[in-house]
Amino acid sequence: IHDSVDQNRAMEKISDSLCRYKDYNFGIGLTTAEYIDSLQSFEIRDSDVFLVTYPKSGTIWTQQIITSIYELDDDHVPYPNNLERMPWLEYLEGREDYSLRPSPRLFASHLTPTLLPPGLRSKKAKIVYVMRNPKDNVVSYYHYCHAWVHLETPKSFDDFLEQYLEGKVGASSWFDHIRVWHAKRGQYNILFLSYEDMILDLKAAVSRIGLFLGKDLSDESVRQIVEKSTFRNMKKDPKANYEFLPTDVMTGKFMRKGRVGDWKNSFTVAQSERFDRVVQERVGDMNLAFTWDVA
Ligand code: A3P
Repeated sequence: IHDSVDQNRAMEKISDSLCRYKDYNFGIGLTTAEYIDSLQSFEIRDSDVFLVTYPKSGTIWTQQIITSIYELDDDHVPYPNNLERMPWLEYLEGREDYSLRPSPRLFASHLTPTLLPPGLRSKKAKIVYVMRNPKDNVVSYYHYCHAWVHLETPKSFDDFLEQYLEGKVGASSWFDHIRVWHAKRGQYNILFLSYEDMILDLKAAVSRIGLFLGKDLSDESVRQIVEKSTFRNMKKDPKANYEFLPTDVMTGKFMRKGRVGDWKNSFTVAQSERFDRVVQERVGDMNLAFTWDVA
């Protein structure tokens, strides 16, 4: 019996850098099936805040905003950087016993609803979900695969584009992620934001996040957080820019370009047309309002 349980729980290796478990692709070595299963009994507190994204959608940006909002309340912030303050729930690396963490606990995650703790469905704990135009998302992801040592370096952009469209990348398919979170939104206390909205009006985004988190931010606090969260300032902020990661894990930069529409520098016309068709097929009915072409 023991053997069969272990086997059922094994992650299936699907490439040199990815393994699959419960319909989701994880980076090899970042977590285990047992740990992912254990999240089903992970106790959620009403004060917990989750930031959920598909990778490369603006996670560390929103992480900077949310951690900065909570920093306003703390006289002394004991965490050395944003990753420690708001760790990814699903990764084992540096894992601690989160039940010992003082409230409010902040977590980041790339997981889909069924893999996250069911307690989130009490609708008390909060989720901020950030999505990004998939064309910019795939370009960012492509560059990230060159920078993150444990991911396979794509042979070409065209190759990576196919992998991405098939969902054969970490966190699986962008289309599935967006669709499932959107479909299940009624079960959660969730705020949807887009990267493009944040680029267009960062001040409005900070205010919306603050309001959602139940914080009555003064104009001055909003101004300070916006200032800390601009691309230029975050890039220089050692607590926020992820340059604290060891070089045997990360050789490039998280803070790469931070632009809307950078996809135009990578896509051919044919690739763009094919991509648009797939977007239309897969999520066309969702009427996603992306600000696709802001310069
Ligand atoms: P690019 O690769 O297009 O530059 P994630 O945090 O989910 O991994 O997403 C990383 C992307 O967010 C990168 O996109 C990064 O430059 C961008 N980003 C991070 N901080 C930002 C900020 N303050 N303003 C704009 N973009 C930001």
